Amino acid sequence: MTAQAKPQRLFNFSAGPAMLPLEVLEASAQALVNYQGKGVGIAEVSHRGKEFDAVIDEAIQRCKSLLGVGDTHDVLFLQGGATQLFTTIPMNFATGTVDYLVSGEWSQKAAKAAQASGAKVNIVANSESTNFDQSAAPSTWKLTPDAGYLHVCSNETVHGHRLPVWPSHPNLVVDASSEFMARPHPVKDCALVYAGAQKNLGPAGVVVAIVRKDWYPRIGKSVPALFNFQKQAEAKSMVNTPPTFGIYILLETFRWLDRQGGLSAIEKRNEEKAGLIYQTIDASQGFYKATVAVPEQRSRMNITFRLPSEELTDAFIKEADKQGMVALKGYRTVGGIRASIYNAMPVEGCQMLAAHMRDFAARSR
Ligand SMILES: Cc1ncc(COP(=O)(O)O)c(C=O)c1O
Repeated sequence: MTAQAKPQRLFNFSAGPAMLPLEVLEASAQALVNYQGKGVGIAEVSHRGKEFDAVIDEAIQRCKSLLGVGDTHDVLFLQGGATQLFTTIPMNFATGTVDYLVSGEWSQKAAKAAQASGAKVNIVANSESTNFDQSAAPSTWKLTPDAGYLHVCSNETVHGHRLPVWPSHPNLVVDASSEFMARPHPVKDCALVYAGAQKNLGPAGVVVAIVRKDWYPRIGKSVPALFNFQKQAEAKSMVNTPPTFGIYILLETFRWLDRQGGLSAIEKRNEEKAGLIYQTIDASQGFYKATVAVPEQRSRMNITFRLPSEELTDAFIKEADKQGMVALKGYRTVGGIRASIYNAMPVEGCQMLAAHMRDFAARSR
């Protein structure tokens, strides 16, 4: 038998759906065709059968153990993406006034969805007037005493900044979509943490939600079973047929994360990767301008920066593309460059991007 050549992989800087580890893709591809040598693929078996039951049990277990959460919380694998999640949160859990930090595109969308649902929403701070170039200092937030919850987005995928430390609040809800499992998170201290899978975990179509069980009595009787967090938890995310293959890929990612040494080890690598690019920006004598000035707030996942002109930006992207570095164009409303370097992006991809940045700046000044 001839050894199979490794596929040529691009360095894919897409913000999501995004790059996944090759080992995860290969193991998932194998399971899709022939699961554990059973002559049937994992996407072809019943979600109520023993094969898939073992998959979801292991996925829940590994997810909890990677995050250090115990019996106080349930792990759900739902459909509808992070947008459905932030739409159904107020429906389930809003009591009295609910607080929202608006620090970018996604937290703003979540706050608007809560307002549209009829919840009484208080915006604790809003950095839109400075184009979401940073998140307001926690000491300036206008928090409601006894708010039903505080919702934040810990990493703003579009604007490229993060909350260096998740706030401490008795009922904290975090949209962690674009940094989930890229560093250790204090999930056990949160009421609800959610993340669309298509950045750091797997394919679009699955959203992970980790819910504190003591929140279930808040859920009104009128919430439909499909959107009811308690009913979904009782049914192990199977009120209806779950996205079985997507969940399988998540399980492979959790196994991969364990093999990498867990979230502290992955954070160390992510800091190194992001450092390579931010150092290049900061050493470019103003040729590249980071859109987020405060170093601590700069996202380690979505690195956003500008070049002196649109022509140079286009040329930069085209040249990168030719070298096998793709999807560097900034979000449509923001422009510039966005390099998304989730867990699966190898250090070599960041080294190559930094080298291209240095070379391009030297030639274009
Ligand atoms: C931080 C954040 N929240 C929410 C969403 C929405 O996710 P979805 O498209 O899965 O609904 C995204 C998508 O990019 C995101 O980056």
